[in-house]
Amino acid sequence: MSIAVLPGSFDPVTLGHVDIATRARTLFDRVIIGVAHNSTKTPLLDAHARVELARDATEHLAGVSVELVDGLLVDFCSSLGATAIVKGLRGGSDYDYERPMALMNRSLTGVETVFITGDNALSHVASSLVRDVARHGGDISPYVPPGVVAAVRRALAGT
Ligand code: PNS
Repeated sequence: MSIAVLPGSFDPVTLGHVDIATRARTLFDRVIIGVAHNSTKTPLLDAHARVELARDATEHLAGVSVELVDGLLVDFCSSLGATAIVKGLRGGSDYDYERPMALMNRSLTGVETVFITGDNALSHVASSLVRDVARHGGDISPYVPPGVVAAVRRALAGT
C-alpha cells in the first residue's frame, strides 16, 4: 500500500488544501494530512482546532485522514510507513520555499517529496491571505470549507 503525508500548518485549512489532498489520493492509496508546527510561524488557531477543521474538511475523501505531527516530519513519515511527502505548488515562489525542505527531508531519511500542481482557480488561495482577509472583516467563505469561517472568527475574537 502506498502512503503519503501531506504536511502543513493548515492555519486554517483551505479549499486549496482539499484540492491537493483530493489529487494526492489519485496517486497514493492513503494520504495522511499532517498538521505540523512551523517554527517560523505563530499560528492563529491552536493545533487541536487545525486538526479538527482539516478532519471536517476531508471526511468525504476515502483514504484521507488527519493527524497531528509531534516533532520531525520525517519521523512522522517513518512511523506511518509513508514513502512520500506531498506538497501543492501554486507557483514558482512556492517551489523556492519548498525546495530546501524537500532536500532536507530527503537528506534526513531519504523520503521523497512529490509536488502537485493545484487547481488554477485556487492559485490565489493561501492560509496567510485568508487570515488577513478575515482580520480586516472580509468574507473568507469562498476560500475555505464550511466551519472554518466561524472558527477563524472565534480565534480572532479571542473566544
Ligand atoms: O504550511 P507550512 O507552514 O508551510 O508547512 C511547513 C511545515 C509545517 C510542513 C514544516 O515547518 C515542517 O515540516 N514542520 C515539522 C518539523 C520539521 O520536520 N521541520 C524540518 C522541516 S525540513
